[in-house]
Amino acid sequence: MGAYMPKALTDKWSTPPHIIDQVVEEFGSIGLDPAASPDNAVSKRYFTEQKDGLKCQWLANLVYVNPPYGRILNAWVAKALEEYDSGRSKRIVMLLPSRTCTRWFHALYERLDVEIRFIKGRLKYGDGSSPAPFPSILVIIGKNPDNLSTALEIMSDRQLAEYQEAIGDDC
Ligand SMILES: C[S@@+](CC[C@H](N)C(=O)[O-])C[C@H]1O[C@@H](n2cnc3c(N)ncnc32)[C@H](O)[C@@H]1O
Repeated sequence: MGAYMPKALTDKWSTPPHIIDQVVEEFGSIGLDPAASPDNAVSKRYFTEQKDGLKCQWLANLVYVNPPYGRILNAWVAKALEEYDSGRSKRIVMLLPSRTCTRWFHALYERLDVEIRFIKGRLKYGDGSSPAPFPSILVIIGKNPDNLSTALEIMSDRQLAEYQEAIGDDC
């Protein structure tokens, strides 16, 4: 599904609340939502299209991303892998459409530190009224973050936000 989709369609897939509850229960509180609007952010700290989450640094212990579902998905997955590999994000959870023939899916699939969970059935996104016309996956980048030993790892999300401000990143 690499076809063009209008913006109203790519952005409308807000995460169902039970998925957020599961993520928080398993991995702890979400420190950053880099693809959001004020009315759908799933974390106190978030980046909007205006700030551009693709350009900002993702400094957080747990980043949760449900990006726009158009062709731009390649860029969001590449950005997530870059932020994780740099050590700026300790762990990143992504909710994505299951498109197993795409470049971005294989970029995730070939990595040993990425877990891909196929969600049974179809999620009810957005207003929750009807199931999505596609299956979804939950991707965990950083299966075993205890192996990481970066200076950033020991900072709280609040300290990371302060650090981001201090280095002049106005995101
Ligand atoms: C699928 S919705 C996700 C909503 C919610 N944050 C969630 O996790 O369920 C994608 C959101 O990303 C926003 N968005 C689009 N491009 C963006 C960008 N470059 N940087 C940050 N946010 C962006 C859209 O406005 C929309 O609110």
